[in-house]
Amino acid sequence: MSDYDVIVIGGGPAGYPAAIRAGQNRLKVVCIDEWRNYDGSATFGGTCLNAGCIPSKALLESSELFHRAQAEFSVHGIKTGPVAMDVAAMQRRKAGIVRNMTGSIVQLLKAAGVTAVQGHGKLLAGRKVEFTAHDGSVMTFSSKHVVLASGSQPMPLKTAALDGTHIVDSWGALEFDAVPKRLGVIGAGVIGLELGSVWRRLGADVVVLEAMPTFLPIADQQLAKEAMKHFRRQGLDIRLGTKVLGATVTQGEVWVNYSDGTVASQSLTVDKLVVCIGRRPHTADLLGEGTGVVIDDRGLIKVNDHCHTGVENVWAVGDCVRGPMLAHKGKEEGIAVADRIAGLYAHVNYETIPSVIYTAPEIAWVGQTEEQVKASGRPYKVGCFPFIASGRARAMESSQGFAKLLAARDDDQILGVHIIGSMAGELIAEAVLAMEYSASAEDLQRTIHAHPTLSEALHEAALAADKRAIDMPNR
Ligand code: FAD
Ligand code: NAI
Repeated sequence: MSDYDVIVIGGGPAGYPAAIRAGQNRLKVVCIDEWRNYDGSATFGGTCLNAGCIPSKALLESSELFHRAQAEFSVHGIKTGPVAMDVAAMQRRKAGIVRNMTGSIVQLLKAAGVTAVQGHGKLLAGRKVEFTAHDGSVMTFSSKHVVLASGSQPMPLKTAALDGTHIVDSWGALEFDAVPKRLGVIGAGVIGLELGSVWRRLGADVVVLEAMPTFLPIADQQLAKEAMKHFRRQGLDIRLGTKVLGATVTQGEVWVNYSDGTVASQSLTVDKLVVCIGRRPHTADLLGEGTGVVIDDRGLIKVNDHCHTGVENVWAVGDCVRGPMLAHKGKEEGIAVADRIAGLYAHVNYETIPSVIYTAPEIAWVGQTEEQVKASGRPYKVGCFPFIASGRARAMESSQGFAKLLAARDDDQILGVHIIGSMAGELIAEAVLAMEYSASAEDLQRTIHAHPTLSEALHEAALAADKRAIDMPNR
């Protein structure tokens, strides 16, 4: 007899929801997680809660308020004295939020009847799992099913080795105890833009070195162009098409050598350098001999569309498998696998996974970009509505950006929605739901949106796709 019905290895946003749902499905579950913080404390929640989504959003919020207090309050007629930032207090607030949220995961696991243990899990042949607790004691569990949810870790860059103080990864950049005067960022991806924005708003001079010649190639290029305009205006110095040749720490400064293709080598001196060039699956010492689980050439655990590894009753979810490395994608996969294990129906719609970049303005999208629709050859129509024409956006002093909707000419199906502007990350949820229900542009046109709200921009973008917008001239 097996010790458990389900063993989940990894307690991040893919693993802990899998464990909770399996518990809700009345299965006997253990969730194993090895996360350790800088201070040595062991917590659940993985990258997302400890060193990713949540702490970054806490700092984005604090830094945005600081910026608005400095730059915007006077427009509203609010008079303040000089505004100053207490970085230690900002970091204490962030740490408190993280502590609170990671602590509540333990409660959630408990409430679902899940045994939560802290230490390293290793899958052995025959669905046995070797568990090494943080105190070094070792036990072996057997299980009917095993779910691998071991997540990801930052990709290293040979030419800019981390020293943990001056050259750091994204986690290090969330922990600065003072605003660096000069900050270098390698990689103008999601992390580079979000964390670059945090420290820029707090006063750092920020230079971002990006290898690709195109800015945000994964986004709709109309959005990317608009975003670049705002970021440059905010003072983010984004240099595209650059190659970092080396980075050395000398007398407390980081000397970065890079090439941009025009001259052999350029140099940049900064106080801190953040390397954020993508993440790779974390599968170190996860698999013992003869498990049969396959790791592909990108280091990802090989799975089918149902997150099954091909080895009987062994599943894998989240950042350690193919697909975007996003917390909500991992969560849905974890839940779906737990339901499949219980014999229930489950489906993850990979076509409607939203992406959000939490800069100001925010950037959010779902579905295909205009470039992808064009390449597909399907005739399409576009509706765009600028927030400057939205009463609510004007009242919020947030009139940058636009909402854009792409729909098929043949059957009016919504193919993609792209929003850049205030609260874009919240607004995109309506588009996700519409696409999940296979809505047409006309469905959105006929849906009543409260006035005055930012959501009216999506309504108007849907109307604009048929040149029927009300609150702006149709072109
Ligand atoms: P992880 O969160 O990495 O969790 C895996 C867990 O498994 C970890 O706790 C790890 O210690 C543990 N583990 C690994 N191997 C073992 C083992 N052998 N035994 C026991 N335990 C093990 N995504 C978003 O959707 N929105 C955001 O706003 C966002 N912001 C981000 C900001 C930053 C700075 C970063 C770095 C990432 C951000 N992400 C965001 C990405 C998001 O954090 C990941 O997609 C998400 O955490 C992946 O979840 P996961 O459960 O697959 O892996
Ligand atoms: P990323 O893939 O978003 O961006 C990495 C960037 O670095 C790319 O633009 C890439 O071209 C560039 N790059 C690669 N090698 C380089 C080099 N040698 N020199 C200069 N530039 C180089 O990865 P990032 O920002 O590290 O984030 C990792 C993952 O975390 C993302 O894939 C994302 O899924 C997730 N994440 C999600 C967030 C969100 O949903 N808001 C926020 C932060 C992270």
